[in-house]
Amino acid sequence: MIPWWMLVAIANNFYNFWLYLGEVQRYYRYPPLLWADCLWMLEYALSNPFTLSSKATRTEQLPEDLTVYGETPWTTLERLCQAVNLQADDHFVDLGCGTGRTLLFVARYYHCRVSGYELIPRFVHKLRWLRQALHLESQLDIYPDNWLTHPLNGTVFLLVGTCYSDEHRTAAESKLQQLPSGTRVISISYPLQGLALQETLTLPFSWGKGTAYIQHVP
Ligand SMILES: C[S@@+](CC[C@H](N)C(=O)[O-])C[C@H]1O[C@@H](n2cnc3c(N)ncnc32)[C@H](O)[C@@H]1O
Repeated sequence: MIPWWMLVAIANNFYNFWLYLGEVQRYYRYPPLLWADCLWMLEYALSNPFTLSSKATRTEQLPEDLTVYGETPWTTLERLCQAVNLQADDHFVDLGCGTGRTLLFVARYYHCRVSGYELIPRFVHKLRWLRQALHLESQLDIYPDNWLTHPLNGTVFLLVGTCYSDEHRTAAESKLQQLPSGTRVISISYPLQGLALQETLTLPFSWGKGTAYIQHVP
């Protein structure tokens, strides 16, 4: 008898493979994205990001609610970028960039300046290697820091804070409320208090359907 959690894991793998096929069909005809994803896959061929993340949470004693890993597929990310009307002169910031695959997409597809904050050292190390291999040094900044305690600079922010504790969620809200008026914020799973809500979208993520709140600083 196969345990229920194994069946869920198998179903989730199929679901993510289906999402990946959507990315292949839409973006692999574009050589800069194809090459970026090939190098990204090479980096993670022997070390699954989900396993890396849960190991780091234990060994580095990182806050468990912050370091829960999940991915935004490129097809979903493009829809989010359209919703905030992302332009080449924007500065896109991923507040918890994980492996940085979101940043590679935005840098290569929208030609924006991009920045990512990340707490897990192995992700930061691998992203630094990818940045160099893809010649993105002048376009991509990596901060191996907790963004909640770091000064922020950007015009569009992505927060996948789905598992944040109430305490971290409140800290995130008060930090983002201080950004200049008009700054756009995409929050996944819940709307951020103190920010104006423009649009709500239901889109696929690696863990299933999620709600994206398109907001801006009033
Ligand atoms: C759910 S994953 C999302 C990855 C990526 N943004 C995406 O959408 O595909 C969240 C990542 O953010 C990192 N993270 C969460 N809170 C953070 C914080 N306060 N500062 C820096 N990194 C953080 C976690 O370690 C994790 O790798």
